[in-house]
Amino acid sequence: MIKQKVQDEINDQIQAEFQSAWLYLGFAAWFEAKNLDGFAHWMRLQWQEEQEHGMKFYDHILRRGGEVELQDIDKPSVTAENATEVFEKVLDHERYITKRIHSLYDLAKEEDDYPLQTLLHWFIDEQVEEEENTSAILERLEMIGEEGTSLYMLDRELAKRDDDS
Ligand SMILES: [Fe+2]
Ligand SMILES: [Fe+2]
Repeated sequence: MIKQKVQDEINDQIQAEFQSAWLYLGFAAWFEAKNLDGFAHWMRLQWQEEQEHGMKFYDHILRRGGEVELQDIDKPSVTAENATEVFEKVLDHERYITKRIHSLYDLAKEEDDYPLQTLLHWFIDEQVEEEENTSAILERLEMIGEEGTSLYMLDRELAKRDDDS
């Protein structure tokens, strides 16, 4: 069985993961509107990944005989002046998610919830990767600027990203 307090927090995390998915899908549309299809492709893969994250928590609750309680997803804030600003927002968001995962891990320890701790080990590693990938793109953008061919080159590169990266 799963403690109510823990279940509530996992349900909140399902919301946070689907909220992340919504943010990425919003930015996919943002890039698509600017014909930056490689960036849009990258954002769409993130959108899929975040849904998978949400479903990992969803399945975790159900496998332990708990109750999934879905919550509202807010309209994502996807206004940005340029691609650099998009990635700044994405990085801020991933850092926020990392903090959430760490707090959830603290709770799992306090409540002696061992299965949740094990699940969260995967998420702790995943967040390191998420921040690393996002920072790498942001650094590239800051280095090359957003004029003409350099942005196009990065777009072509991001178009090559496959499902498992
Ligand atoms: Fe996530
Ligand atoms: Fe993420």
